[in-house]
Amino acid sequence: MNSKTIPTFNPDLPVHMTFEEHDWHLLAQYWYPIALARDITDQPTGTMLLDMPLVIYKMQDKLIVAKDACPHRGVPLSLGKNDGQGVVCRYHGLRFGSGGKCNRIPAHPEQKISERFNLKTYAAVERYGLIWCSLTAAKDAEPNIPVMPFWEDAEYQQLVCPKVDIQCFAGRQLEGFIDVAHFAWVHPETFGDPENVEVPDYTTTETDYGFSADYISGVGRYPIGLDQRGQEDFKWLRHFEISLPFTATLTIHFPNDAKQVIMNAASPMTARSTRLFAPICRNYDKDLPVEDAYEFNLKIFEEDRLIVENQKPEYLPLDLSLEAHFPADRSSSMYRKLLRKMGFSPLFAA
Ligand code: FES
Ligand SMILES: [Fe+2]
Repeated sequence: MNSKTIPTFNPDLPVHMTFEEHDWHLLAQYWYPIALARDITDQPTGTMLLDMPLVIYKMQDKLIVAKDACPHRGVPLSLGKNDGQGVVCRYHGLRFGSGGKCNRIPAHPEQKISERFNLKTYAAVERYGLIWCSLTAAKDAEPNIPVMPFWEDAEYQQLVCPKVDIQCFAGRQLEGFIDVAHFAWVHPETFGDPENVEVPDYTTTETDYGFSADYISGVGRYPIGLDQRGQEDFKWLRHFEISLPFTATLTIHFPNDAKQVIMNAASPMTARSTRLFAPICRNYDKDLPVEDAYEFNLKIFEEDRLIVENQKPEYLPLDLSLEAHFPADRSSSMYRKLLRKMGFSPLFAA
């Protein structure tokens, strides 16, 4: 799937790079979700962010995110087990405890353990039911994580959909999430209306962290099959907040002041594979099983999968002359323009 990899010799870089090094360094400054908080225990879980294999585990409830490679001979710690005092490497039994520090070398129990044996750890925090990580942010800096409206609001229910793995570039996925012209074509089985294809004009506004867009239309959002709850000519406002590079929140304004916010946080595992996380807040249907909400949202993401996994080129062309655009693409054109302004390559994630 990955078109090319560039081997590196710098231990701070992934061994195999699917990103241009220039783009990788820019991307590595940002924060991305890497796991559902509810999946993380003291036992090691392996994942990947920007080509970097990561291991996640807990010691006395403290979160540790480290490079998933033993400093001794490069075996992934995610193959090992936590014995209560740390994660034990499968190969020679080195053990890594709090802060990723090596606290045992079984072959040389008397030898003082050099710092060279400690794991390389990364800045990580839990927020919105997710574990967020940055590969180059300072560990003591305030994490620059996009805002999720109503996450702390007691009037709202907070839920976190199961993760979804998609074989595409995160930029293509995010762009699909903010695309308002595809509802009738891709989502007729869930919320789109095949009769309602025209896209009214809408506005975008640049912000400190990206841009926002307000889209007002007659396209509803209830599961198809439910009645539209007695609001014939209701105009639906979809308010998007895009936090560059790969996160957006969508607040959907339902009839009777009901609202749903869905965060689309696309985590770039490699240039061609994305792990999608989606926390949701809503102030209605709070008594319904959360599984129904998961199922409805996962069905929508599955409908999108066919599209984003087949788009060519796989990269996101930031040079606007490389694809054709119409007025309904206002958001995606803005997205590409701002990514380019941030310094990403014209063939982003080529
Ligand atoms: S490779 Fe991990 S202990 Fe040797
Ligand atoms: Fe979609």
